[in-house]
Amino acid sequence: LAAAQAPQDLAGLRVVVSAGGTREPLDPVRWIGNRSTGRQGVALAEAARARGAHVTLVAANLEAAGSETCADEVVRVESTVQLRDAVRAAGAAADVVVMAAAVADFRPAAPTEAKIKKVPGQGPAPIELVENPDILAELVRDRLRPGQVVVGFAAETGDASGGVLDHGRAKALRKGADLLAVNAVGGGRGFGTPDNEVWVLDATGEQVAHANGTKRQVADVLWDAVAKVRG
Ligand code: CTP
Ligand code: CA
Repeated sequence: LAAAQAPQDLAGLRVVVSAGGTREPLDPVRWIGNRSTGRQGVALAEAARARGAHVTLVAANLEAAGSETCADEVVRVESTVQLRDAVRAAGAAADVVVMAAAVADFRPAAPTEAKIKKVPGQGPAPIELVENPDILAELVRDRLRPGQVVVGFAAETGDASGGVLDHGRAKALRKGADLLAVNAVGGGRGFGTPDNEVWVLDATGEQVAHANGTKRQVADVLWDAVAKVRG
């Protein structure tokens, strides 16, 4: 749908979408990061805007095209702590917060101001990590605004202990977000691809929607689910 034809069912809503992947500095030239390009998050912002919402994009190191124009406001961040601060600042006035960013679970405990040097004959020093704040869990705990809808994403792979959806259901229960969009990654799926397949679960792990298509189509299905939650 072109923007002019989209239903204006999100008109008057303020939404915050985090997108991209965090980078956790080791020293001034190196970081620990992940493969997220931010395409799904940009598609979410574009779709919400087309449906009438006021959109703030919190952009972590985006590689996706369109990041300049997909939102009313764009806040650029690099690390998880910066992402948390930006999401909470914008989230205080938001009706919906969607955590589409791939957030690092851990960060180097003591990033150095000087570049780490290799010392001939000495092996590499181990990198000590500390746990990052869980931004989504904090949003669920704190409910920055009454009635705010909090949405998470979960990129999962199947493994010996269960399939993608088994892991997704367990995460929905653990996280308590109003909606959790679960997608399969690995084997060429998910990161950097134009298409996405997503199961949308509620806080009890019940499936409320399924989408398989372009990231824009997936975004519209997710906004449909958000609109239903808001009633
Ligand atoms: N998330 C977050 N803060 C973190 C880690 C994750 O806000 N420190 C958010 C992500 O943006 C996503 C959701 O939580 O919306 C689920 O992320 P995921 O990495 O799948 O969940 P984890 O609880 O970190 O579990 P896992 O052990 O599978 O990584
Ligand atoms: Ca994680």
